[in-house]
Amino acid sequence: MARNIWATKSIEQLKQDAEAGHGDGHGGGVTLKRTLGPWNLVALGIGAIIGAGLFSLTGIAAANNAGPAVTLSFVLAAVGCAFAGLCYAEFASMIPIAGSAYAYSYATMGELMAWIIGWDLVLEYAVGAATVGISWSGYFVSLLHGWGINLPPEFIASPWQPVKLPSGELVHGIINLPAALIVLIVSYILSRGTEESAFLNSIMVILKVAVVLVFIAIGYSFINPVNYTPYIPESTGVFGEFGYSGILRGAAVVFFAFIGFDAVSTAAQEAKNPQRDMPIGIIGSLVICTILYVLFSHVMTGMVNYTEFKGVAAPVALAIDKTGIAWLLPTIKIAILAGYTSVILVMLLGQSRVFFSMSKDGLISKFFSDTHPKYHTPAKSNMFFGVIVAGFAAFAPISLVGEVTSMGTLLAFILVCAGIIIMRKKAPDMPRAFKTPLVPLVPILGILFCSAMMLSLLTDWSHVARLFGWLAVGMIIYFTYSVKHSRLQKSVQ
Ligand code: ALA
Repeated sequence: MARNIWATKSIEQLKQDAEAGHGDGHGGGVTLKRTLGPWNLVALGIGAIIGAGLFSLTGIAAANNAGPAVTLSFVLAAVGCAFAGLCYAEFASMIPIAGSAYAYSYATMGELMAWIIGWDLVLEYAVGAATVGISWSGYFVSLLHGWGINLPPEFIASPWQPVKLPSGELVHGIINLPAALIVLIVSYILSRGTEESAFLNSIMVILKVAVVLVFIAIGYSFINPVNYTPYIPESTGVFGEFGYSGILRGAAVVFFAFIGFDAVSTAAQEAKNPQRDMPIGIIGSLVICTILYVLFSHVMTGMVNYTEFKGVAAPVALAIDKTGIAWLLPTIKIAILAGYTSVILVMLLGQSRVFFSMSKDGLISKFFSDTHPKYHTPAKSNMFFGVIVAGFAAFAPISLVGEVTSMGTLLAFILVCAGIIIMRKKAPDMPRAFKTPLVPLVPILGILFCSAMMLSLLTDWSHVARLFGWLAVGMIIYFTYSVKHSRLQKSVQ
């Protein structure tokens, strides 16, 4: 039987899938509900964006790469994301379907590329959720410690991650239970309804943004201008360690902090008016977060000298210590925990929605698009990923999952930028509620910026091996299962 792995799905087909998309006999006659307005979408974006990247990586990037100029690293990373964000916005307003980058590639670069991107997005969403789950656990343990409650070290870290006891002794953990539990709880909430999850997310987003604003406002008066000299510390001679190359490497490190704005596009099938509101959700959340990030990192590196952040996992706590305001620390930690929870929520939402689309297309089992008759969510898929991601969060060390998340996401961004150029050639007259400006310049710049960040993350071969190892597993599944069950392949025969 002839198969065309480059076959593309027509946009009309994609749109029909998005509108009817559910009564195709492939997943039952139940639809995802259109419940999300523009504010929900911006909140969804901020929900996924502000998290471990800001509260943990800012200090690391300042100490190891950029010094106070970490603010410029944030600007650089934001510019790269903005190019990709503009491309996402055009696609999401044109093809408002849950599959996001996966669906866009299906229409532009063919089934095989779509498969690769869908598979790659697991790194962004599922592995990203595990990464933030592990950070969540760190803040949770430290909050309890502040209240005099000490959890047994065996149950707060993976077997590959040593834990420092108050005595200074390093011991190995067995399982990171808090990380696994938070992932399971969030998955359960997601399975109970998107509207409810979005409501909860909005509350957590308000808390999270409040904490960032409070930190900026209070911290501002504790800035010591001496900490800004030198603003760009002199390079050590090693690429990425201070100087201008340090700003670039710092951008790749803090890129993690921007991951998530694209998750807005996975909620397209649940948006009330996706054509208008998708660009608002994507660009709006990106702009708000960039402003907050630059202010936050400026204040933080003004309060604490960048050299003091070396090896510090919770830089916010260090900065707050400088203020001497005792009640502030636990309050901020609780808000940070809420903030991390919302990141996990949106990441897991994104993951189930991408697999929902892939399942509808027959590339993976129908299990992933079965929707719950009452809650209208892919509840089985939510719980499946809940268990898998909880497993990762429980047993993987954070260093293993963090970089893989960033690399997987950058690859998706690059392909979405390329997709816009292809789509303008393939369907120039197709109505676009939002148009990326200056095509092909903006997508090309997006590809260049994201490739530069990706390259500067490839600091050792094990990162490359993990990314390509994952993609190789995907290829095996595609050629043994997906290509035989693909609805598109069946329709073209
Ligand atoms: N941007 C998200 C975070 O920083 C993934 O936690």
